[in-house]
Amino acid sequence: MRGRLVVGNWKMHGELAATARLLQALKAALTPVEGCAFAVCVPFPYLAQAAEALRGSALAWGAQDLSEHDAGAFTGEVSGNMLRDFACRYAIVGHSERRTLHGETDRTAGAKLGAALRSGLTPIVCVGETLAERERGDTEAVLARQIDALLQAQGVGALARSLLAYEPVWAIGTGHTATPDQAQRAHAFIRGRIAAADAAIAADLSVLYGGSVKSSNARELFSMPDVDGGLIGGASLAAGDFLAICAALSQR
Ligand code: PGA
Repeated sequence: MRGRLVVGNWKMHGELAATARLLQALKAALTPVEGCAFAVCVPFPYLAQAAEALRGSALAWGAQDLSEHDAGAFTGEVSGNMLRDFACRYAIVGHSERRTLHGETDRTAGAKLGAALRSGLTPIVCVGETLAERERGDTEAVLARQIDALLQAQGVGALARSLLAYEPVWAIGTGHTATPDQAQRAHAFIRGRIAAADAAIAADLSVLYGGSVKSSNARELFSMPDVDGGLIGGASLAAGDFLAICAALSQR
């Protein structure tokens, strides 16, 4: 059976004292649930703090990005092996904010997927269409292009060790959540596209939904057959909201 996950993406939020409080609150409240995993992807400077606070708890941690390179003269970049030094389990790859604000492309996402796997990290690869693309009726074409680039870069076998996140750009940080039906349709399309390359890998692949998930809509989204959990931005910054979303997954 596919694993189910809730992953927090803190983005560029936090400072030492508040981060310590949030990590402690999550650690104290979360207990292991069979078939479910919980994680937070924190800013790089707080990885040591997360590792220290969360070791042995039901909450794993990860990073929000990594370099496509393993080492070298890449000022400002962080490699997958550095993330492993801090016992990260996950690295987000190809988030739409990286794509739209930092010039990342389908090619970069494919390269970073490979880099994460080389370092023993589980990549969470994000795909999703913009509002203009959806309104033009191009949602499936965009998803197909993004998935095919991953398959071409690393082969379908790479997805056996990865997670995907469907994150419609128009839903991220806007409060406009995709409806459960919209999410299900996109997730089924993504799974079908991968199934054409390898049906068993597609069946086992966890696909998270991201984009304005809240405690009030999580349960409905997670009840869809191809939605295996969520990647949570804003609502991951308040312990109560994030824990309620984790509970919604556990009760599915
Ligand atoms: P949001 O962000 O939950 O704040 O919409 C999700 C994400 O960007 O991963």
